[in-house]
Amino acid sequence: MSEITLADEAATIALGAALAACLQHGDAVCLWGPLGAGKSTLARALIRALTHPGQEVPSPTFTLVQTYETDGFPIAHFDLYRLKTADEAFELGLDDAIEDGVVLIEWPERLAGRLPSNRLDIEIEMAGEGRLARLHPRGSFEGRALGV
Ligand SMILES: Nc1ncnc2c1ncn2[C@@H]1O[C@H](COP(=O)(O)OP(=O)(O)O)[C@@H](O)[C@H]1O
Ligand SMILES: [Mg+2]
Repeated sequence: MSEITLADEAATIALGAALAACLQHGDAVCLWGPLGAGKSTLARALIRALTHPGQEVPSPTFTLVQTYETDGFPIAHFDLYRLKTADEAFELGLDDAIEDGVVLIEWPERLAGRLPSNRLDIEIEMAGEGRLARLHPRGSFEGRALGV
């Protein structure tokens, strides 16, 4: 587990951009933390690093999932906040998205423990004006250099 202090929004963006370089086909990044923690900020930075800096990355609060093409693999950004049951995530194509490429998941709590096995859990908590991120590599992420 590594702990990273994110003093400001720029630090959250830098973390997202750095992590982008270590992602591989079949990976999941689960973003845990309360409303306003910076989950979407991190996801947006990560997606921009893999697409282009001007990429529009709307929060998928209503669409639930938004997919992007990159040079390597497609990346699917899920926001499960509005889900009622974990089954809905799989109906939305979560398993297929992992098989096809990389997924970023906001509100992984909604999966009720049915989490992807190869995943990087990132817990973000409020810390004064800034944030504290805890990174927990699971499955194929264990032992991988994360570049942070
Ligand atoms: N490390 C940080 N320190 C302070 N504010 C931050 C940090 N990271 C992100 N923010 C700010 O927090 C707010 C909420 O971010 P957002 O990414 O929408 O959160 P979430 O998706 O977790 O609800 C934004 O205004 C963003 O600029
Ligand atoms: Mg969000």
